[in-house]
Amino acid sequence: MAEFLRVGVLVSGTGSNLQALIDACRSGELPAKIAVVISNVPTAFALERARAAGIPAVVVSHRAYPSADGFETALRETLVMHRVELVCLAGFLRILSAQFVAAFPGHIMNIHPALLPAFGGKGMYGERVHLAVLASGVPSTGCTVHFVTEVPDGGPIIAQATVPVQAGDTSATLAARVAKEEHRLYPAAVRLFAERRLRLEGDRVKVLPAVVSGSAAEAR
Ligand code: GRF
Repeated sequence: MAEFLRVGVLVSGTGSNLQALIDACRSGELPAKIAVVISNVPTAFALERARAAGIPAVVVSHRAYPSADGFETALRETLVMHRVELVCLAGFLRILSAQFVAAFPGHIMNIHPALLPAFGGKGMYGERVHLAVLASGVPSTGCTVHFVTEVPDGGPIIAQATVPVQAGDTSATLAARVAKEEHRLYPAAVRLFAERRLRLEGDRVKVLPAVVSGSAAEAR
């Protein structure tokens, strides 16, 4: 791995999580470089955010390919061309195939706006998640960063943050409260990866302790 982890971010929409990653790289809080941002939606505002930050912004539209296979091949080629070491899904609204996931084993992360395994899976995205949370009557929700497998929202969990559901919440007020935590949690999880502190053990993620600078372990 290079000194700075090379991250590729896949987006479809607004890109507030992308922005949080950009800001964390800029402030030095995240020892990573966003090497490329790829959107399957040509009009996604996330592309503007990437351009404003001087990051290559590439459109790979699923509509331009007759098959999912062709679309994923183009995605893969773009990621490889930019020497991406970690793929971060940030509001990317296409489900990736088992073959795509296998091309980057243990190197794809996603953020989901609920406490998985609750309120996840196919069709659970955006406002639908928060509406389902409100309809269920649970007192708290949150967000989850996890490794991506071929099961939508089903991969090993890296980190979660909890957010209270408050009386009178609408999907919009709840989404805003969750988003605030997402913007903190995603850069923190990517930082753990960059520091090589995430170890996959079967379907679990073990977070290794931080190496204290100057320690015997570091000297080895
Ligand atoms: C976030 O809520 C994220 O958890 C989900 O999609 C949303 C993307 O929002 N996967 P943004 O485009 O990052 O603002």
